Amino acid sequence: MSESIIVSGNTKKEKYESLLPQIKALVKGEKDFIANVSNIISALKYGMNFFWVGIYFVKQNELVLGPFQGPVACTRIAFGKGVCGTSWKEKKTIVVEDVEKFSEHIACSSDSKSEIVIPCFKNEKVFAVLDVDSDKLNGFDETDKRYLEQVVKIIEKIV
Ligand code: SME
Repeated sequence: MSESIIVSGNTKKEKYESLLPQIKALVKGEKDFIANVSNIISALKYGMNFFWVGIYFVKQNELVLGPFQGPVACTRIAFGKGVCGTSWKEKKTIVVEDVEKFSEHIACSSDSKSEIVIPCFKNEKVFAVLDVDSDKLNGFDETDKRYLEQVVKIIEKIV
């Protein structure tokens, strides 16, 4: 495991390209899922300089907050509620350019302006969602979707 994450590149794509192999290296040799996910969340937060990054786990009929980096957040989200609950229900990645225009959005922090949520699957069932928030409008695009879905593939492999 490397001691620190060093992200290089000027574009978002270049930054993700430099971060992904480091995330893979980070989880190599460690079997504990929560330890690995915690490090992945930290690598994303500090590597990409996101406002908030975290994972919510499906527990019975709701999502429960797991490892995260950033301001304190809502601990429980119902199925179909918020961007996270909607991603779980619809089983797809949701990009919200402006959280105020997404009626279902749950505001954990008033500083959060845009958001992307990616569902994590095990045996075709959603077991968690990865949530990334930006303090700027339009913080996420197709590039984030593409690379964060690759990060989720790593999470799905190690669960
Ligand atoms: N905004 C999310 C809730 C989680 S926080 O952003 C950390 C939602 O609407 O589901």
